[in-house]
Amino acid sequence: MTEFLPNNFVPSPARGRVLVFDSGVGGLTVAEEIRALGPALGVHYAADSAFFPYGDKSDEALRERLPRVAKALCDHVRPDVFVIACNTASTLALQEVRAVLDIPVVGTVPAIKPAAAFTQTGTIGLLATPGTIGRAYTARLIAEFAGSRRVIQHGSIELVRLAEAHARGEDVPIEAIAAAQAPLFEAPGGDEIDTIVLACTHFPLVRGQLIASAPHAVSYVDSGAAIARQTIRVLPQETEARSVGGSAYLTSPPEEAPDLALVLRRYGFPEVQFVALEPIAITSAPTLL
Ligand code: DGL
Repeated sequence: MTEFLPNNFVPSPARGRVLVFDSGVGGLTVAEEIRALGPALGVHYAADSAFFPYGDKSDEALRERLPRVAKALCDHVRPDVFVIACNTASTLALQEVRAVLDIPVVGTVPAIKPAAAFTQTGTIGLLATPGTIGRAYTARLIAEFAGSRRVIQHGSIELVRLAEAHARGEDVPIEAIAAAQAPLFEAPGGDEIDTIVLACTHFPLVRGQLIASAPHAVSYVDSGAAIARQTIRVLPQETEARSVGGSAYLTSPPEEAPDLALVLRRYGFPEVQFVALEPIAITSAPTLL
């Protein structure tokens, strides 16, 4: 979140409608950054609550679902920019989503480049979902931007669940957060880590607990501010002025997830709507007479 803005921070006067999307509430950390940088924007939020979490789903299942859910949401909300505030989705299916939309699409990828530049010890940690850790896209980012660094990786779906539970107001013990990030520090060379990439948008929700439970001082970096800048950069110039504020959308009925609706309200989305997805068309073989 953006509690501590740099002194030279200048909000953008950009107007337009932005739809921020994630599997759950993680993307709210990105929505906050976008709101801070573009206070005149209409920022809307959508969670694919019916398919949460993404981090343990197969590539095939996500590749099939993401373009469908993106299209259904954009047809409904009519944004000027669609922001995939999810590393797990962006590192897999950014092109597939772009192919079905006719507006700019901003993706979220692990902040490996800034972390590689920031580290003093030359050892960085990469904390993400198991999906993001295994991706060819992530391997390419590491090879391109952190080739001269040691990158210790750990995928944790447990940390996604803990962050989501924390955001929903549940009492999450700090020991559980410590255990979820411990494999990074316990890996060979882990005591050298001075910078950790939070490569899942859920993780900044528990940034304080991560800092407090690390065995030594570590800086945690994420892509939120960079995504906000890119969102404003790609916003079409001719966009008509539309209202500030925004609504939230779920792919499961809000009454089935009252605590999720509560978190969204707390983040300034008082109105939560249900967007139903078209069922997948199943074509059966023609009957032979
Ligand atoms: N917040 C998402 C990410 O940035 C994924 C969480 C999940 O659904 O597994 O990767």
